[in-house]
Amino acid sequence: MTHTKNYCGIAEDVGEVLIDEESIQRRVKELGAQISAEYAGKSPILVCILKGACLFHADLIRATPIDVFMDFIAVGSYGASTQSSGEVRILKDLDESPEGKDVILVEDILDTGLTLNYLISYIKSRHPNSLKVATLLSKPARRVVDVQVDYLGFEIPDQFVVGYGLDYAQRYRNLPYVAVLKTANQSSK
Ligand code: IMP
Ligand code: MG
Repeated sequence: MTHTKNYCGIAEDVGEVLIDEESIQRRVKELGAQISAEYAGKSPILVCILKGACLFHADLIRATPIDVFMDFIAVGSYGASTQSSGEVRILKDLDESPEGKDVILVEDILDTGLTLNYLISYIKSRHPNSLKVATLLSKPARRVVDVQVDYLGFEIPDQFVVGYGLDYAQRYRNLPYVAVLKTANQSSK
């Protein structure tokens, strides 16, 4: 099933919808409710890992009706490839110091784990009061380093996906659902 009829020029590249819009929204609301309950009386900073997590982050903070703050961090991306280089570098640092704060890192997808592993060490080195991790998606089959996830949206199989913030060569981030990228998954098999 494809949902691309209203999106011009992408039907060729975007394949099967893995997680539809309604399922994403339902799960994000559950995660927000869980965070609200666990952080009641606290003021956590939800740190969006740009750019991929931007849609998830925007929906998650709206689903978290407690006193939250938001911040943004950007790391080096895959460029136009679907393979991780294993190299992580910070392109944009946090605006506010996380020292003494309750931090939740918000990521789009946990793949090899290299990005989150690096960012967890980096934030910890800046002495937060606590640090937890939320990720919309996880591909356990691809893991190279173990990463503890506190709030997980969905586990998915080892396929390259786009939509809901996730891109291929900076495209398809605006799709409201998560779909398999036809071309990448065909060429890697
Ligand atoms: P990791 O460091 O290998 O865990 O990679 C995490 C980053 O790789 C994510 O933040 C995404 O930007 C990117 N990534 C991994 N898998 C996918 C995918 O299937 N689609 C789009 N981006 C992906
Ligand atoms: Mg990303």
